[in-house]
Amino acid sequence: MASTSRLTGLRDSDIAGRRERVAESAGLTPEQLGVLDPAAGLSLEAADHMIENVVGVLGVPVGIGTNFVVDGVDRLVPMATEEPSVVAAASNAARMAREHGGFTTSDTGPVMIAQIQLVEVPDPGAAAFRLREAAPEILAAADAQDPVLVSFGGGARALEVRELATRTGVQVIVHLHVDVRDAMGANAVNTMAEALAPRLAEIAGGRAILRILSNKADQRIVRARATFDRDLLGGADVVRDIVHASAFAEADPYRAATHNKGIMNGITAVVLATGNDTRAVEAGCHSHAVRGGIYRALSRFEETPSGHLAGTLEVPLAVGLVGGATRAHPVAQAAVKILGIANASELGAVIASVGLAQNLAACRALAAEGIQRGHMTLHARTIAASAGAEPHEVALVASRIVAEKKIRAEYATEVLAELRAATPVAP
Ligand code: MEV
Repeated sequence: MASTSRLTGLRDSDIAGRRERVAESAGLTPEQLGVLDPAAGLSLEAADHMIENVVGVLGVPVGIGTNFVVDGVDRLVPMATEEPSVVAAASNAARMAREHGGFTTSDTGPVMIAQIQLVEVPDPGAAAFRLREAAPEILAAADAQDPVLVSFGGGARALEVRELATRTGVQVIVHLHVDVRDAMGANAVNTMAEALAPRLAEIAGGRAILRILSNKADQRIVRARATFDRDLLGGADVVRDIVHASAFAEADPYRAATHNKGIMNGITAVVLATGNDTRAVEAGCHSHAVRGGIYRALSRFEETPSGHLAGTLEVPLAVGLVGGATRAHPVAQAAVKILGIANASELGAVIASVGLAQNLAACRALAAEGIQRGHMTLHARTIAASAGAEPHEVALVASRIVAEKKIRAEYATEVLAELRAATPVAP
């Protein structure tokens, strides 16, 4: 939780100044944010314990999404991304929602699914019946695998049995639903699936092959909604055109893929910053986008009766706070502290809200001035900085080269020289 996420002018500070403001608002010391220095972040030694054949680490910029109010709480949002405009766009959209109370979320609870594949089952219908009858025994055996999870209020919740027609015959697929609490859950459910497989095969009279979680995490859904202010969006015409853009993405897979990519720009940035598994979340979200056999938009925008824009997003989010890189990576730990979240549910709430904000920002830009203007404005700041502008000069140089439509290094150098010549140096 942040004392406020409305940190105006953050981008005009230098990095030390930004850290100070973030630290102050999030209740951390600037030293606690020190791990965000490349030299102090993930050490080679720690990296060597994470994966194999380590030769180095990759730096990705971490920026702070501002203006977010999620379920009534101000949140500063660490976002790891190499793409310009993402952090600024999310922050801008969050400001438009802030006027109307920010983002409101709900979730279905942290339930993951493990799949156990049974093949060569002589009578699949009868086997499915026997497996359903054995559910209490199977669920108890699953819980016995993870007493710690059970002591935290998690554990096996349900057994589902499917008869699946495949080209190698009817297979019996058992789904074990497990409440994984604050974990991402892969380790917990995979352990259970492997332990249960022999007994399931015995009951079915067949052979177990695959025993692995499903990334289609449709029992771990997070929903976010927000109302974006008409005037901050740019007026009634922009609202109308965003609704048209939304309808386009709801109906057309070609547009939906790009629309959803915009959502993932925000979601993946927070998932990565917090050390979670970006591929798991992306697989879950894209599979959730298929409804009625057609790949569609994950979000929807509508005009409210008072002329503002209401946005909703529904995504499966398999993210956790315990285990994996979230615990091992110092930057992920700092990200969790900045977010001020207490559990995986709060993390999911922030991530879904960022996805919706990111999506709104992209749709707004596309429906209004187009995406390039914002990109070029940010690009101009990079050009200004690389021409030698000091942090306090960057905004001035960038705005001049944008206004004069000459976003080029040599012109930035010229503008900078002019600016310095015109600014009297203190005696
Ligand atoms: C670019 O990274 C993302 C967008 O293409 C998303 C969209 O088109 O909605 C701008």
